[in-house]
Amino acid sequence: MTRSILIASGKGGVGKSTVASRLGRILSAQGKKILLVDCDAGLSSLDVMLGLSEDVAFNWYDAYTGRCEIEEAVIHNENGPDLLPAPRMPLEEAAHDAVRQAVEALADDYDIVLIDAPAGLSAGLERAAAAAKKAIVVATADDISVRGAAALAELVRNRGVEQCRLLINRYDILAAKKGKLLTVDELIDRTCVRLLGIIPEDPAITYSTVTGAYSPKSKSAAAFRRIAFRIEGQNVPLKLKQLR
Ligand SMILES: Nc1ncnc2c1ncn2[C@@H]1O[C@H](COP(=O)(O)OP(=O)(O)OP(=O)(O)O)[C@@H](O)[C@H]1O
Ligand SMILES: [Mg+2]
Repeated sequence: MTRSILIASGKGGVGKSTVASRLGRILSAQGKKILLVDCDAGLSSLDVMLGLSEDVAFNWYDAYTGRCEIEEAVIHNENGPDLLPAPRMPLEEAAHDAVRQAVEALADDYDIVLIDAPAGLSAGLERAAAAAKKAIVVATADDISVRGAAALAELVRNRGVEQCRLLINRYDILAAKKGKLLTVDELIDRTCVRLLGIIPEDPAITYSTVTGAYSPKSKSAAAFRRIAFRIEGQNVPLKLKQLR
């Protein structure tokens, strides 16, 4: 059965779209059929991260309002996950059902649908959450992000998302040891969400949005692979030392 997984955060800029695009690429390289759904109307980024900007013609709102068929909006990507783009402009109407309808219509063609939510507890998040059964809550290891993650997890659980997992991004284990960032235990305690994995701070990620290059040997690559295996149901240890 297709799994639809929301990737969301409370506060913005913590790495949701990075996580969605990286996991999408890895799972697709492992032979899975993956659809990425960009829900960030007006601030979309997955097309850039996947190098597909030139291919964007329609989006899920066009399909919802009858301007195209939903299949016409999907960008088929030979070298990675398929992409269902977001509208380039912010939406004036709530269109609560737009993403859910799109995912339901397309899900049978995919093993996993990854839904990249906009930041915040907004109508855009509600629209994205309506299409998901599971959620990955992304947070960085600071008080403000963690408070946002806890609020987000509570909201999506109340909306019927059955399983939430925490992904800690941009982690610096040495800074946490010196008390400059929250520790992994503190993060789990404060969010009350079970841990899915940890991605280290890695300049290669930031540079890759400009250069397009991202080495499978970069600092974060192995951490992303371990998380992809866990999404596939494998029991992969945390290996905190490898995050240095
Ligand atoms: N582990 C990391 N190490 C270094 N830089 C990172 C890491 N993860 C993400 N970034 C950088 O952080 C910035 C924000 O990432 P991204 O756009 O994925 O966040 P977002 O949560 O989707 O933002 P928004 O809330 O605006 O949708 C980008 O410049 C990205 O390259
Ligand atoms: Mg984003």
